Amino acid sequence: MSSPVVTALPDETVADAAARMQDRSVGSVVVVDGLRPVGILTERDIVRMAAAGPSSAGQKVADLMTPEPDCVHPGLSVHEAFASLDVHGYRHIPVVEGPELVGIVSLRDLVRVAQVQPVVHPGQIEAPPGLEGVIVAETQVGDVRGLEGFYHYRQHSAVELADKRSLEDVWFLLFDDHLPTPAESRAFAAEVRALRPVPDAVRHLLPDIAASGGPLMDQLRTAVSLLGHSQGFRAWLDVDAAELRSNALSVCAAVPTLIMALHRLGQGLEPVDPDPDLGYGENYLWMLTGERPDADNARAVEQYQILTIDHGFNASTFTARVITSTGADVAGAVAGAIAALSGPLHGGAPSRALDLLDAIGTPENARPYLADAVSRGDKIMGFGHRVYKTTDPRSQFLRGVAQRIGAAKVGFATDVEQTVVDVLAELKPGRNLYANVEFYAGVVMEDVGLPPDLFSPTFASSRVIGWCANILEQAADNRIIRPSARYVGPPPPQPVPDA
Ligand SMILES: CC(C)(COP(=O)(O)OP(=O)(O)OC[C@H]1O[C@@H](n2cnc3c(N)ncnc32)[C@H](O)[C@@H]1OP(=O)(O)O)[C@@H](O)C(=O)NCCC(=O)NCCS
Repeated sequence: MSSPVVTALPDETVADAAARMQDRSVGSVVVVDGLRPVGILTERDIVRMAAAGPSSAGQKVADLMTPEPDCVHPGLSVHEAFASLDVHGYRHIPVVEGPELVGIVSLRDLVRVAQVQPVVHPGQIEAPPGLEGVIVAETQVGDVRGLEGFYHYRQHSAVELADKRSLEDVWFLLFDDHLPTPAESRAFAAEVRALRPVPDAVRHLLPDIAASGGPLMDQLRTAVSLLGHSQGFRAWLDVDAAELRSNALSVCAAVPTLIMALHRLGQGLEPVDPDPDLGYGENYLWMLTGERPDADNARAVEQYQILTIDHGFNASTFTARVITSTGADVAGAVAGAIAALSGPLHGGAPSRALDLLDAIGTPENARPYLADAVSRGDKIMGFGHRVYKTTDPRSQFLRGVAQRIGAAKVGFATDVEQTVVDVLAELKPGRNLYANVEFYAGVVMEDVGLPPDLFSPTFASSRVIGWCANILEQAADNRIIRPSARYVGPPPPQPVPDA
């Protein structure tokens, strides 16, 4: 508002008031009786008077003013003041505190602080929170059918692939669009096994990363960045498709080696070099202990790794595609995806699911413990899914794997699973909450000798293949992913106080 206000008295002549308005360059005067506004005289009133002819020259202000004008309070927001002017068609509104005139708001004041309202482009779409149900890309990598409890990699049931094929065959499928022939399978295995060792430049830095003592997922993120740099990865916009594929293969092959090297260094142990004669799961457990693993355990972990290679547009895959859409290098996209996967709502859940079993302790304690937790608003780790509204096929398959290897906690976990489903159906009716991949993942991994700090990294060890298949697909048909947000903060521009 403007203050002090240019005023006039009711018994002044309009000519005197008009001269003052011109002198002070204002478009109105507030007519006062003492400090109380009793009217308002505006340029418009004076123009009207002039049009009436010379006979009106000596007219008094009281004859021409608008009496008892609408007034506003100084606490009114700029938005409300604008609305008030707009609704009544005024150009000036006196501001009063109690009965006293303290200022005047004019259209000119408001234009000075006016903001341009955001433009809503035609065709702009309001997405639901969490982008639930929004299709943002086309993909041939795979799909999740939440109501059927089915998912696939390039049209082959992922569960059937986990049952029948090696991880390297499934990796080939994701990168090369078809399941390999026996000759292709041997050639591909030889190609990717040769890429398992990490380059010396990175190997020498791993002890320092491990010494930081942070979570293994954070260490892995750092190591992947270094790997990309040491191998000369460049922004994919600057490389051809063959070089991009080669970068992607390198990072996928090295991630399991980095995970196990960092884990062992954190335990004060020397890393165990990968063995090119061993299959994927066998090599993974070999690098953990330096001992030839039990074949059933190796197959169990490899099946878990196959099941978790890809799963639609989950948060980490979407992250990898967003980063790739900018033209960035493969290692950058994978590092970002690792960060997304590390969150407890995504890949950080399996150790928490196992903690849940430990916290419940006995079958009798399951129902009261869970009812209490859900009533408190806690999320039960290893249950619920954005897409599955029925049993997650991965959890069913892993329950079978856990039973096959005779996992110590599988019987208890099966009882608890049923109790959780019942309790959630009672306390969260209609939400369709069932065990997800994480619930039996911890049970299986614990039994094959993987400690909890390796649970999320083991998820990442194979999900990196899915990320890279998506990275290659994004790069092959790219448009930068750049959505919009609705600004809901205080109206801009707010004045910047002098420093
Ligand atoms: C996976 C997950 C993040 C999906 O989230 P989402 O699709 O955004 O679903 P919401 O969190 O909005 O949940 C919908 C409703 O179900 C409830 N719900 C979902 N998962 C639940 C769980 N695990 N325990 C208890 N309640 C749960 C929510 O409280 C919410 O209830 P409300 O309608 O009363 O608010 C969510 O189910 C979850 O946090 N699960 C536990 C973590 C986990 O296991 N993650 C691994 C995923 S593979």
